[in-house]
Amino acid sequence: MSSLTIRNLRKNFGAVEVLKGINIEAKAGEFIALVGPSGCGKSTLLAMIAGLETVSSGEIRIGERLVNSVAPKDRDIAMVFQSYALYPTMTVRENITFGMESRGVPKPQRDEAVKRVAALLQIEPLLNRKPGQLSGGQRQRVAMGRALVRDPKLFLFDEPLSNLDAKLRVDMRTEIKKLHHRVGKTTIYVTHDQVEAMTLASRIAVMHQGQVQQFDEPQAVYDRPANMFVAGFMG
Ligand SMILES: Nc1ncnc2c1ncn2[C@@H]1O[C@H](COP(=O)(O)OP(=O)(O)O)[C@@H](O)[C@H]1O
Ligand SMILES: [Mg+2]
Repeated sequence: MSSLTIRNLRKNFGAVEVLKGINIEAKAGEFIALVGPSGCGKSTLLAMIAGLETVSSGEIRIGERLVNSVAPKDRDIAMVFQSYALYPTMTVRENITFGMESRGVPKPQRDEAVKRVAALLQIEPLLNRKPGQLSGGQRQRVAMGRALVRDPKLFLFDEPLSNLDAKLRVDMRTEIKKLHHRVGKTTIYVTHDQVEAMTLASRIAVMHQGQVQQFDEPQAVYDRPANMFVAGFMG
């Protein structure tokens, strides 16, 4: 398990500075929720942690290792997006193992890994179906399976439940909580949902216009919200 340290992280797109010196430290195994209004820089921050966007200045460390210039595939990070983007012509099993196959993981190991995550996510009966034959919640689980199968150091979630209806969101929130208890990986989780942030996170980072305004435990954010957005967000 690894900690994540973000120090004075800045990002410019041309002349526009969208991240203005971000500082966040996630302890090994910690679950951090990232909240803030649309456009404040949440997805950009996740993309930089994953290595999909370059760093303008500052540091990203996974454990002790400075990863600013490390290629995405060598960071040992798994990311789950809002849109699951499963391959429609592949079965659930193939969707989950595709990445391992392209990395040359031998078949016995692939089979073992599928068995492990399918049991964890309770999708064993779905392994031979195509994504079109699944509900939204099942597809979301498969997308998580694809991330989990890699046994990464770090999980990044970018509003993974916002496309689901209310009932499924509640179920999946419970699943994610259980999952985190079981595998205990360091997680950064972007959400627009107050209950998700309150119930899942050990700490919440409140972002506003490219800065972290508040980084504290859920109850403290609830009691003393740093700004109007989070006050509204916290109801
Ligand atoms: N590739 C890009 N080029 C230029 N501007 C970008 C790019 N990606 C994001 N931005 C801008 O950066 C800001 C933060 O975006 P984003 O990280 O997507 O916010 P959030 O996820 O919090 O809604 C926005 O103003 C957005 O328009
Ligand atoms: Mg976003």
